[in-house]
Amino acid sequence: MFRYAIVRSPGPSIIDGITSSSLGKPVYTLALEQHTKYVEALENLRLEVQILPEKELFPDSAFLEDVALCTPSCAIITQPALFSRRGEIEGMKEVLAEYYSTIEEILPPATLEAGDVMMAGNHFFIGISNRTNTEGADQLIKILSKYKLTGSKIPLEKMLHLKSGVSYLENNNMLVSGEFIKTKEFESYNRIIIADEECYAANSVWINGKVLIPEGFPDTRKKIEKAGYETILLNVSEFRKIDGGLSCLSLRF
Ligand code: GLY
Repeated sequence: MFRYAIVRSPGPSIIDGITSSSLGKPVYTLALEQHTKYVEALENLRLEVQILPEKELFPDSAFLEDVALCTPSCAIITQPALFSRRGEIEGMKEVLAEYYSTIEEILPPATLEAGDVMMAGNHFFIGISNRTNTEGADQLIKILSKYKLTGSKIPLEKMLHLKSGVSYLENNNMLVSGEFIKTKEFESYNRIIIADEECYAANSVWINGKVLIPEGFPDTRKKIEKAGYETILLNVSEFRKIDGGLSCLSLRF
């Protein structure tokens, strides 16, 4: 069960977030509204939420998930790949020290963004992507092993981050989409296959027994509910415009 969440408010510079989509620029005021509702949803799930102030110099900084990995035993500050996101890690050590006695770090030349890391019990799947390199994964696996946690690498072909296309919903249930439908390492899970038209919803988030899903993906919602979960729908259209999903918006631990 998760007890805490940390989020970062989006700033007006969100309109300049990195994107591969053709959905247009985010509308800042709408992004703020959606972010407020996201925080309310976390609080309704009984998480104590810390809201960090916007980092205006960093357009993608609302995607706080990428800058740290929060495990049950330690927190790990990551090493974002792109120059425009690198400064997002500044100050995170101090923030996480409020919750953790041990804070580890991924060090250059390694790169690792925690959107590429999926926790499934004591095991962590690590996507090797344009953002996370092999050195980053190796450093993470070495750190995890100090805490009797394990990690393994999953090479990505197309997706931005591992969790862009796969989400662990606990109880051996996993949402999989696109290139991850054929991933051998996920075959032992009860895979819930997300159709291509709804692949954005493969980034849904289990929190304390319920599942946050993005609004507008009815087939995915049906499948998750059929698997026994109560779902909570959230509109994150403005974050989708800059390639971000529900999980990207918080650290949960
Ligand atoms: N816009 C989110 C990212 O590219 O990291």
